[in-house]
Amino acid sequence: MTHHHDGGTHLSSEAPDADPAQFWDGVYLEKAKKWSGHPNPQLIAEATGLAPGTALDLGCGEGADAIWLAQHGWTVTAVDVSAVALERAATHAVEAGLQDRIAWQQRDFASWHPEENFDLVSSQFLHSPLVPWPDFLVSAASAVASGGTLLVVGHHPEGLTPWSGHKEMKDKFFTPEDLVATLTNGPGTWRINVADSRERVVTGPEGQQTATIDSVLRATRSH
Ligand SMILES: C[S@@+](CC[C@H](N)C(=O)[O-])C[C@H]1O[C@@H](n2cnc3c(N)ncnc32)[C@H](O)[C@@H]1O
Repeated sequence: MTHHHDGGTHLSSEAPDADPAQFWDGVYLEKAKKWSGHPNPQLIAEATGLAPGTALDLGCGEGADAIWLAQHGWTVTAVDVSAVALERAATHAVEAGLQDRIAWQQRDFASWHPEENFDLVSSQFLHSPLVPWPDFLVSAASAVASGGTLLVVGHHPEGLTPWSGHKEMKDKFFTPEDLVATLTNGPGTWRINVADSRERVVTGPEGQQTATIDSVLRATRSH
């Protein structure tokens, strides 16, 4: 399957003092469409069995996951630092007739934390030197309602593609075991439903097919 989150050297060039909104707007403006437009496979795999309610998509990008969730009955809040990405996402939602089911918000995870609780909090491929993943995980977990679900998906440090430039910044990435350890040491009580390393094939900039590994955590909050 041709999929997103496989290419681009842009992440390695994110300077520690960069303004993330400006940086990510620049990334999006390089192309009329940055990602595939398809929802992430791990979102589909993990959210399909859940009863829909309220969902928070952290780092929603061009909105494919938020739109998929809305199509499946969820009331979605979708957050990203890039106004360019959010504008594209909102346009796609209007095209799908789902604009009333998704609220788009521009926020910077380096300083903002969700104030409400949600039945599902999902984050897919949020990797930034400005937002250390353990802090981000705790913030995302804190936004899960009692009985709700946390879904975090990202690149596994042992499954980074050679063309992505990711290998130089391995500490931005996490194993499912890393996620479980941080989650269970943080606030809340959790049942771990899934902690998996999942291989999938992605297509690189020259059309080459390479395996990558997704770290997948799905956990239910008891209280
Ligand atoms: C690799 S993209 C993933 C987008 C989307 N989740 C997907 O899977 O298609 C990472 C996203 O995180 C957003 N992001 C990066 N740093 C952020 C920050 N500090 N605050 C909020 N969003 C941020 C970027 O704008 C980008 O849309």
